[in-house]
Amino acid sequence: MERNGNRYNTFYYSHKGLRGMLYSTGMKIQKTDFTDDKQRKEAVALLAEVLELIERHSLHEDTYIFPHVTTYDGALLAELEEDHAHGHKLDSKLLQLVDELQVPTNHTTLQSVGAELFHTFNRYIAFHLEHMEKEEEKVNPLLWKYYSDEEITRMKSPIVNSGDSGLLLKEIAWTLQSISSNEAIQWLIGLQSRVSLETMEGFKKVAKEVLPAGDLNAIETQLTA
Ligand SMILES: [Fe+2]
Repeated sequence: MERNGNRYNTFYYSHKGLRGMLYSTGMKIQKTDFTDDKQRKEAVALLAEVLELIERHSLHEDTYIFPHVTTYDGALLAELEEDHAHGHKLDSKLLQLVDELQVPTNHTTLQSVGAELFHTFNRYIAFHLEHMEKEEEKVNPLLWKYYSDEEITRMKSPIVNSGDSGLLLKEIAWTLQSISSNEAIQWLIGLQSRVSLETMEGFKKVAKEVLPAGDLNAIETQLTA
């Protein structure tokens, strides 16, 4: 659950969503035949979405979470900045390979660029999995030391109430598909008290699209209770 002992883990659900997205995309990419136009286009579109969502997540943490704690730990700040530089390098490499896959060429080239993209994405997954563990392991104790759970929850308010609803809803969809039914209920109940009615309707619409009917009934019952 989103609590570590008696404290609130602010990364819990967003990181589960991102991990689920990385696992699912990794599987999709390793099953892609890059010489097949349809499969290649689908893999490239999914990868573009992943890069965008991870970038958005990092920007949100850099803007709304990390500044609250990095003043207390210069070494951690340097480490996180170094990680970000490495993450950007992997991003640029993947974007360059995506560009190469969009230029008409022969099957041999498509196969070799596809293989390079697969291996680079594996490193990308490994890096982000490690990075998320680091955030939960090193940033949480600082947040807990200097802020109340209520203050930590409030730091995320601009994120869940952000105007860029298309990307927010995609993130919500990945998270709902990457957690247990019970967690989905608890998460949506928690969000209900922190977002506008309109935003909540958007979240419920996504839940209807991605969750099995049985889970939806349980969620509806608890949300209206
Ligand atoms: Fe994160």
